[in-house]
Amino acid sequence: MTILITAGPTREAIDPVRYLSNRSSGKMGYALAEAAAERGHRVILISGPTMLAVPDGIDYVPVETADDMYRAVGKWIGDCEIAIFAAAVADYRMAEVAGQKIKKKGETLTLELVRTPDILASARKDFSYQGLLVGFAAETENLENNARGKLERKGCDLVVANDVSRRDIGFNSSENEVLLVFPDRSELLPMASKEHLGHVLVERIVAMAKPSCSSCSSC
Ligand code: PMT
Repeated sequence: MTILITAGPTREAIDPVRYLSNRSSGKMGYALAEAAAERGHRVILISGPTMLAVPDGIDYVPVETADDMYRAVGKWIGDCEIAIFAAAVADYRMAEVAGQKIKKKGETLTLELVRTPDILASARKDFSYQGLLVGFAAETENLENNARGKLERKGCDLVVANDVSRRDIGFNSSENEVLLVFPDRSELLPMASKEHLGHVLVERIVAMAKPSCSSCSSC
């Protein structure tokens, strides 16, 4: 199968030397990409800036901003039977990026921000994507309810929810513990390395896609 994976943070410029971003390391998304490639799938990894080595045998599409990621997903998602959105996309960017480094002036500084595109929600709406759609949810409270809301609003078949209020899992850790939120039930996958979870998740997700996959020759 052909699997699109988004990973890592996005960076939204404030001025030529500063940006808005978040603590995503890309480890979870890259572990999924590596697991999928090792299982013989074609992987298109659309990644924000990370310190990680690009896994062998994948098609790597580096991006910086949410707008870049939106365009890259729009370009590639039509080729894919499965799309997994593990990136931590900035929800806001500067209304206008300053042309020069912003100088220190008053005691406070107010930045005007505008919404970025919700790329996961655009999969069905803007790109008419019909394949299996998997989102992630990074939550600090009401994990299951918030994840279920995202599943319904964004047209997902599965949302992989992680509690990012915990220091031992989620952002920039080597391990994760996730709640799989399906339309009709939820299931906890206990804490494990992101590499191990990558394999478990890919196996589960590919099995979900198989009944509706008629176009590929590899399954
Ligand atoms: O990268 P690591 O350090 O390994 O950490 C992994 C992780 C915590 C980043 C990952 O497991 C994770 O939870 N990724 C999603 C983070 C996130 O931004 O969650 P969210 O609840 O804000 O977004 C929900 C979903 O919508 C996600 O699939 C996200 O990719 C997508 N989204 C969000 C905003 C936006 N503008 N476009 C999107 O596509």
